[in-house]
Amino acid sequence: MSEHISQIKKEIESFAINTKDELEAFRLKFLSKKGEIPALFGKMKNIPPQERGSYGKLVNEVKQKAQHLFDSKKAELESDVNLNLSAKDDITLPAPEMSFGLQHPLSQTLDRIKNVFLRLGFSIANGPELEDDFHNFTALNFPPEHPARDMQDTFFIRKNPGNPAEDLVLRTHTSPVQIRLMKEQKPPVRAIMPGRVYRNESITAKSYCLFHQVEGLYVDKHVTLAELKDTLVMFIEMIYGEGVKYRIRPSFFPFTEPSLEMDVWWGDEKNGKWLEILGAGMVHPNVLKAVDIDPEEYSGFAFGMGVERIAMLFYGIDDIRLLYDNDLRFLKQFV
Ligand code: PHE
Repeated sequence: MSEHISQIKKEIESFAINTKDELEAFRLKFLSKKGEIPALFGKMKNIPPQERGSYGKLVNEVKQKAQHLFDSKKAELESDVNLNLSAKDDITLPAPEMSFGLQHPLSQTLDRIKNVFLRLGFSIANGPELEDDFHNFTALNFPPEHPARDMQDTFFIRKNPGNPAEDLVLRTHTSPVQIRLMKEQKPPVRAIMPGRVYRNESITAKSYCLFHQVEGLYVDKHVTLAELKDTLVMFIEMIYGEGVKYRIRPSFFPFTEPSLEMDVWWGDEKNGKWLEILGAGMVHPNVLKAVDIDPEEYSGFAFGMGVERIAMLFYGIDDIRLLYDNDLRFLKQFV
């Protein structure tokens, strides 16, 4: 009989337990109700009474051994560090490729623009995308009949069905943030205001119903047009490099006087064209008056640039819609 016990003891010691399946096989074979060890206890009644003591002791030892082995293997297999590998797992196979997120080209461009102006001493301000007529138009010196208020350009939001005069607008430019900023803060004011703007335009390779602008504003005593020009030239040289070809043209905006636009040459010497990247000018005295700043004492300049335009020029993207498709094959090119 004791030979049978030591046989089982040997089987327990040599049983391979490397997986949870093998652990379960071990339990079934030795410890479960129908396993070998309960069977050994079952034989107790056939043992002559004087030998039962030593028999019981032997079987108990075997049981403890099996239970101890089971418990420690179980803990090992369930611990985090154990990979639970089975024979068919090949740990030398290369792992599947991990894909990391990357910054959208528009965010990268916006970061570049912000960095330039932070270095030039500008701070950053924000305003709401849903604006009222006063901030988007009136305070910016748009006359009541100005074509920019036309239904074709502006998305109107009806706040009160009974009163169209209370209509709100999705801001058509970031210039209303100038008004909010100057109402909050007395000069000197020197900030850029990045954000999303909306225009009711048909969607083409060149235009989209929403896009991003960065507004700039500097108001203080004795701010001059020469400083505006200097700032803008410094900006495009820091973005596109010192050799960048640009031109500055007179233009018109209700909220600046004089007004100008800046174009950058896109393409090589022969096959290229001028691309408008920003509008700018000296803050109109009526705008300063609208926010209770005395135009006799203070002057300022403002500019507004299209982030999509600047990104398209920088990366050589020829269709604005690509920036909004979120096609990974396109986005992955901007690591
Ligand atoms: N707000 C103008 C636009 O959207 C740009 C601009 C900003 C022009 C500030 C002059 C000064 O076109």
